[in-house]
Amino acid sequence: MTDHYAVIGNPIAHSKSPQIHAQFAQQTGQRMDYQRLLAPLDGFADTVRRFINSGGRGANVTVPFKLEAYALAEQRSERAQAAGAVNTLLFEAGRITGDNTDGVGLVRDISLNAGVMIKGKRVLLIGAGGAAQGVILPLLEQHPQSLTISNRTLSKADDLVRQFAHPALHTCAIDALSETYDIVITATSAGLSGDLPPLPGAIFNSASFAYDMLYAAQPTRFMQFAQRHGAVTRDGLGMLVEQAAESFYVWRGVRPDTAPVYKNLRAQV
Ligand code: ATR
Repeated sequence: MTDHYAVIGNPIAHSKSPQIHAQFAQQTGQRMDYQRLLAPLDGFADTVRRFINSGGRGANVTVPFKLEAYALAEQRSERAQAAGAVNTLLFEAGRITGDNTDGVGLVRDISLNAGVMIKGKRVLLIGAGGAAQGVILPLLEQHPQSLTISNRTLSKADDLVRQFAHPALHTCAIDALSETYDIVITATSAGLSGDLPPLPGAIFNSASFAYDMLYAAQPTRFMQFAQRHGAVTRDGLGMLVEQAAESFYVWRGVRPDTAPVYKNLRAQV
């Protein structure tokens, strides 16, 4: 029996998830297939139900449906609740369970693949949208000395700090940033349009690690800026692979080896 999985989004043709999960399945000997499903913008829940009725066991959810997936789930993991969004659905025993593996994917890429310990570090997170919210709990669970959220619209960062109510969590306006951080993570969508928030170079020094949750063939504008100010940089391709591996683990109970999959993907980007 082959178990069926899918990634659901709109658009979806660009998704690398089928390729990633096919490699995981082959590597671990799991009998499963994984397809792309384009859901109409007003038809996410119908698409999920049809997939379940046709034997679907689980799905990844991508733009723009992560909030709808959260609403559709009948039970949600703690990390999905903290993220306020769902990127992983599990269909089991007639129930829809929602999880979120994005944040743990980021943390594993930073700590395991880049070898940068988050514990005890001063961390700056730029952005206060869905992508930022999704990584706050997993970052806090690593016990940074502090986690500062900075955003163009500061009130949205303040809202997140109130919501998480954690002693390590602070906000700072972008134009008030003056200190150096050990780890700077950007979770804004500014890079999608080639923009860069007006960050002061002084947030970096030669010991800083700068992470862009987006990825591209070339270093992103944020990475180039960080490099000019001495930081070591990494893009979000590893996060993509790690969040997929965590979803795979949720569904199959097996942890794939992400390194060869990352290497293959990097060669194609
Ligand atoms: P996502 O799910 O990708 O996080 P989002 O929830 O729309 O998308 O959030 C987008 C984030 O990128 C926000 O933090 C947004 O800042 P605002 O809250 O001020 O809108 C940030 N962002 C988008 N374009 C930006 C730009 N050109 N400069 C700075 N920040 C930008």
